[in-house]
Amino acid sequence: MQILRTVAELRRWSRTLRAAGGNTLGLVPTMGALHAGHASLIRAARASSTHVAVSLFVNPTQFGPSEDYARYPRAFEADCTLAAAEGADVLFAPTVEELYPNGPDSTFIEVPALSDRLDGQSRPGHFRGVATVVAKLLIAAEPDRAFFGQKDAAQVAVLRRMTADLLLATEIVVCPIVRDADGLALSSRNAYLTPAQRTQALTISRSIHHVESLVAEGERRASILLASAHGVFATEPDLRIDYIVVVDGATLEPVDTAVPGTLFAVAAYVGPTRLIDNAILR
Ligand code: PAJ
Repeated sequence: MQILRTVAELRRWSRTLRAAGGNTLGLVPTMGALHAGHASLIRAARASSTHVAVSLFVNPTQFGPSEDYARYPRAFEADCTLAAAEGADVLFAPTVEELYPNGPDSTFIEVPALSDRLDGQSRPGHFRGVATVVAKLLIAAEPDRAFFGQKDAAQVAVLRRMTADLLLATEIVVCPIVRDADGLALSSRNAYLTPAQRTQALTISRSIHHVESLVAEGERRASILLASAHGVFATEPDLRIDYIVVVDGATLEPVDTAVPGTLFAVAAYVGPTRLIDNAILR
């Protein structure tokens, strides 16, 4: 696996493999601290593309001033090992100056219809930072496909809209949520949890499964789904709910009635750690 540090190197590598003919490139954007969720994206990219690049960049513009940018887990050696073991050809690990040559606010991409919804409401500027950095990565790498996790459902909606609106040629591929055996969705931020908080955090995935089973029994009313999810959270008063929503998966607008493709999504604080989870209702 090659480690590339500059946009010029990444672009040269991508163009060279494409010029050879018959090759396709899958890109997996990450912020590192790689876990089995990231690994599943690399495997999906490996399965559908002849070449795979993983980007590793803790993107400062998607963190708010009081958020965890400085202490976000960084594990470069372990990330290299995992990415190589999953079959990545290239690990692209640029500096902040490389991706933001004129500073973070010089040029940015915003999807105003979605940027204040779900996570964007409690994390102002977050989706602007995500859309901007992913657009830069797509422009630099020119991948045929880019792979993202359903775990970040609102991010998926923002990135699908951004690529459609900017007429980018890259196909956005969304992969299922990978969970620990106890149900907790894998997240780099799970590393912040104490053992007691980790147990409390299971309330989040319990609420997801509870709502999914109600839908499987035929319940469609968002009001009932929301009330019963709040009921699950009432059993764990130490968690602070950020949002519990039933929304359209593409517009992120609330819906009254769940239909196939409706998104049920939760964000909650376990101590200071904010965790998210969701399900596409079937
Ligand atoms: P990061 O949190 O590192 O996640 C990288 C990718 O892994 C995202 O597409 C995310 O949805 C996916 N992922 C995380 N946990 C997952 C899980 N349990 N199951 C499946 N996929 C999972 O998301 C970001 O980084 C950044 O916002 C980024 C897109 C890289 C832009 O900076």
